[in-house]
Amino acid sequence: MSSPHEAIAGRYESKLDKPEYVHSLFERGAPHYETIGKVGFFGTGHVYRRAALKRAGLEPGMKVIDVACGTGAVTRAAIELVGKTGSVLGVDPNAGMMAEARKYSDIEFKEGNAENLPAGDESFDFLSMGYALRHVDNLLDTFREYHRVLRPGGKICILEITRPKSKVGLAFSKFYFRDLIPAVSKLVTGSEDAREMMVYYWETIDACVPPAEILEAIDAAGFRDVKRRADLGIFSEYQAVK
Ligand SMILES: C[S@@+](CC[C@H](N)C(=O)[O-])C[C@H]1O[C@@H](n2cnc3c(N)ncnc32)[C@H](O)[C@@H]1O
Repeated sequence: MSSPHEAIAGRYESKLDKPEYVHSLFERGAPHYETIGKVGFFGTGHVYRRAALKRAGLEPGMKVIDVACGTGAVTRAAIELVGKTGSVLGVDPNAGMMAEARKYSDIEFKEGNAENLPAGDESFDFLSMGYALRHVDNLLDTFREYHRVLRPGGKICILEITRPKSKVGLAFSKFYFRDLIPAVSKLVTGSEDAREMMVYYWETIDACVPPAEILEAIDAAGFRDVKRRADLGIFSEYQAVK
């Protein structure tokens, strides 16, 4: 246990080269990420992220760490839910993505990655991560780190796209994520980097370990009440309690 996926052929030779490739990919794609979110996903991202955080137990007054915050899509939804009495810290290894986030929100961001968070033990009530689990090096190490920074009773909400099991779901996903989104991304931004970012998005969804392995790793890291909720078998929300 366990990498979220094997090395992606044609992107990097070995898994050791993955962090450098992922860093370069998001550094180049950062200026386009918000536009793709608005156009490619019909602007539904904010409402969905907010609802998912609420379903996982995010409440006013909580202290939140949003891992892989990127341009701040989950971070902004969390800020709305915790209100003035709560707080949200965004963490991401990519300065380019966080520079974009600062254009939209005046919140605290720190550089760091999921396996090594810039945070003390038991210092948060809630941890979120949106669409980045595929990019970590090791699932178990990541979930152990999440367990470390949460106070007892603290909750996690991990959003991820899953390769659906059904034939219809898979055909839809291939059309939407593999074919349509990269093409639309290139069309609206004019950027080959934006297209590559979204091609890699699908490649890692396609290669990712199944939900059962993710749930197993969360459980092995010491969490309880570990569960997955999924819409259409594609939009997954992993929830657990420390
Ligand atoms: C697809 S974006 C997700 C942004 C945002 N959370 C959202 O919901 O749209 C993926 C982010 O994961 C970050 N990332 C890549 N590797 C990471 C790691 N090992 N730990 C934490 N974040 C990572 C990237 O820099 C990028 O900002």
